[in-house]
Amino acid sequence: MSTEIALDKNRIPKHIAVIMDGNGRWAKNQGKFRIFGHQHGVQSVKDITEGAAELGVEYLTLYAFSTENWNRPKIEVNALMTLLVKTIKKETATLMKNQIRLTTIGQIDTLPLDCQEELRQAIETTKNNTRMTLILALSYSAKWDIVNSVKKIAVQCKAGEISIDDINEDLISGSLSTKKIPDPDLMIRTSGEHRISNYLLWEMAYSEFYFTDVLWPDFRKAHLHEAIANYQNRERRFGKTGEQISEVK
Ligand code: FPP
Repeated sequence: MSTEIALDKNRIPKHIAVIMDGNGRWAKNQGKFRIFGHQHGVQSVKDITEGAAELGVEYLTLYAFSTENWNRPKIEVNALMTLLVKTIKKETATLMKNQIRLTTIGQIDTLPLDCQEELRQAIETTKNNTRMTLILALSYSAKWDIVNSVKKIAVQCKAGEISIDDINEDLISGSLSTKKIPDPDLMIRTSGEHRISNYLLWEMAYSEFYFTDVLWPDFRKAHLHEAIANYQNRERRFGKTGEQISEVK
């Protein structure tokens, strides 16, 4: 596959959210354990992070571990956490070199302590980088985030700090763990599955979805370029008519 797809540099999505799926099947296809697929998935994480930064993407969110993933066999969960710690430790220097800021969304306090500490250090080290923000969704589920947001708002209401009439979309957006991050323009899911699996449900109300059969460990910059080219061929209407959109062009 050629990496030479012509992309409109003025219409690069500001925020791309990815569901990295298919690691287990990739390993199984080769007669290997599932963790082998996760290990190879790290190379795709590196390639796509670098590729997105090169294109001028400002925010890249990767669904690295969902709340539901805790239900996987303990051996796989432990291996994933170990891989995460190892990768963050090893790649912080690359993030610095590429001027990428790391941050997270999700229930970070449910992760193993060494993982929390590694993340804390990497977030602190990279906090002043401005080229791109890499957001790892860890122990994350959109429904958890929405429930959490509702609770925060209920507490404010009960304390008399706000009234029911003050509750609007901005207040809800501002109470989510994604509050400082613009909504994704494009969501990519690999491995042929056509679901959003409890990912950024509120934030993706108007995102464009791109599904590919490529398994995550095989996903490379050229596939990212293909996804963005596909995105650039779409008309984003946000509920308006096609005519209204062409009038403002
Ligand atoms: C989904 O594939 C993948 C995951 C649940 C984990 C993704 C983790 C990585 C790519 C490695 C570590 C990440 C970082 C950010 C360092 P699956 O296991 O559900 O695959 P399957 O559907 O084929 O079983």
